[in-house]
Amino acid sequence: MAVLERSRRQTNIETAGDAPATTVRLTIARSDAGAVREFRVALTQPAVVLDALLAGQRLDPSLGFRYSCRVAMCGTCAVRVNGRPTLACQQPITPDTDELLLEPLAGFAVVRDLVVDTSPFWNAWRRVVPWFMPGGPREALPAGDASRAEVERGLDCIACGACWSACDVVVTNAGYLGPAALNRALTLVADERDGARAERLRVAGQQGGVTHCHSILGCTAACPKGLDPSASIRRLRRWSLVA
Ligand code: FES
Repeated sequence: MAVLERSRRQTNIETAGDAPATTVRLTIARSDAGAVREFRVALTQPAVVLDALLAGQRLDPSLGFRYSCRVAMCGTCAVRVNGRPTLACQQPITPDTDELLLEPLAGFAVVRDLVVDTSPFWNAWRRVVPWFMPGGPREALPAGDASRAEVERGLDCIACGACWSACDVVVTNAGYLGPAALNRALTLVADERDGARAERLRVAGQQGGVTHCHSILGCTAACPKGLDPSASIRRLRRWSLVA
């Protein structure tokens, strides 16, 4: 009975007028042990997880999460949905969805509710000097290896941190650069206009770099943009070995 009472207290219902709606029960990880964790929201279709979070926040304004662009460009809304890292603004809620478990990204300290401290991710990002550095003529990439066109796709990374969250190595090795930073390094190494290739390969090949990757492919499975950071790391490893 006590559980039933608590459940009743912690369940909120939001309806969406007469519009066709999907009713979803949300269980949301909260940093305050006394905060509401369970919500029931009715969403008009098509709906995404961010719609559900916003509906939940209307019921409990203290619910914390991040978002900005709503179109899978800014990378701020990454959370775990049923255990998998993804973008809340991109993850559909299908009409047959009954319930969802929403948690903050793994591998980061929680600031509040679904908001995490991404400082370690950005510190690693900075270490690979993620901006273009114009330079003079330089040697070609290793013969027979990838052209710049083949790594162009890596530029679609929005630095959301989903790959970091899915990587077992960043959790156990605080010095590891992680998949996003190494993918960024690869795109710049492959840029024939960039003048810092040797330095970039040195950073990628040193302690904390490509040799720490265990090739578990969690990053590739998690990337909400469909990128393959694991392949980027493998390629960067080859290039840093022959540099
Ligand atoms: S809100 Fe910008 S990526 Fe989701």
